[in-house]
Amino acid sequence: MAQDYEEQVIVITFGKPMVDIFEMKSVKEVLESGIYVHGEKTQEFEGAFCKQFGYSHAVSVANCTAGLHLAHYTLTKSINSKIKKQYEVLCPAMTHVATAHAIELAGLKPVFIDCNADDGNMDVEIMEAHITDKTVGVAAMHFNGIPCDIKKITKLAEAHNLYVVEDCAISLGAKVDGQPVGTFGQFGAFSFHPVKQMTTGEGGMVVMNDPSNHDQLAVERAFGVDRAHKHRKIAGLYDVTMLGFNYRMAEIPAAMGIEQLKKFSKFQKQRKQNYFTLASALDQIDGITIKGGQIYDERSYYCLIVHLENMSSYERNQLSFNLKKEGIQTSIYYPHPVPRLKYYAEQYGYEPALYPNSISFADHCLALPVAPHLTENNMITIAELLEGLIKC
Ligand SMILES: Cc1ncc(COP(=O)(O)O)c(C=O)c1O
Repeated sequence: MAQDYEEQVIVITFGKPMVDIFEMKSVKEVLESGIYVHGEKTQEFEGAFCKQFGYSHAVSVANCTAGLHLAHYTLTKSINSKIKKQYEVLCPAMTHVATAHAIELAGLKPVFIDCNADDGNMDVEIMEAHITDKTVGVAAMHFNGIPCDIKKITKLAEAHNLYVVEDCAISLGAKVDGQPVGTFGQFGAFSFHPVKQMTTGEGGMVVMNDPSNHDQLAVERAFGVDRAHKHRKIAGLYDVTMLGFNYRMAEIPAAMGIEQLKKFSKFQKQRKQNYFTLASALDQIDGITIKGGQIYDERSYYCLIVHLENMSSYERNQLSFNLKKEGIQTSIYYPHPVPRLKYYAEQYGYEPALYPNSISFADHCLALPVAPHLTENNMITIAELLEGLIKC
């Protein structure tokens, strides 16, 4: 039965871009400069990003999806496009569709792997069982800012000669044993969409350890043109040495990104405080379990996901709506296992029995906000209202 929801005024929003006078000033400067692409801001942003998070190379891009596409494309461009669809990339079922689209767009076939029941990350044992002689790579996604078992994944990948692309869209700042996410595979891609840990409006960053991967990606991001704007002795004169895309980041988002980096630690501190406050308030409530509840320092606290015991998906949706009526915006990460989405179900078929844990996240969980525009008092309000609504 369709559920009918009217508009309500939201007081506690799920996310909010944290911009102030500093972003506005830097954007104004770019506007006044007249240089909107091919300028120095993107390079400055790439350098500052590497320095702050400990990456050796980075390429800024229009958004994370573009970065993921570039990564899979670059790593498999030597495969003849006529037979490419035979080759498989292991992909979490419980992820944003962008993780899978990037594989499809590169001409490869995603093979969907269920997540584990606890934190929603790809189940590595199931993943291992799906490695065949057609597998060429792995899309390793860090779900909800909690690092996936990337060490095991890269070990398996090395043993089977597979590449690894890390989807770090919602895990900026997360680490594994002190090593930042994005440095384990050949490429890692981040998102700067407005509700992410930091924003450039729209935007993304691809990181890599290998300088030749950097150079390749940097050229492909800009049409395959052989020389950057500043290296053209005669304006307008260049050659194109490879197939490429227009996936560049522009100067305005880069200018915003430079300012956002300066505030990132403050944002993360507040996210973490909010997460802890909400987690301990929820701990007392019967009927819910915190997903990935084991709290450890090296995660990125994107949101707090609760599993609603004994609630149908209809009741979960009703709860979300009732919270909205009280002014609290929640979300769902993610609304479907990717193979259940129409496009993928029609292409590859959908067997629910293969994805019980992903289905549980999609149908019986609710994502609660912890973003830095919110306070610890907001967290208490969320927990109290949730408790009241679950009891009634
Ligand atoms: C896991 C994951 N990958 C990729 C994306 C896409 O990021 P973008 O909007 O920057 O392309 C998202 C967006 O939320 C995401 O959650």
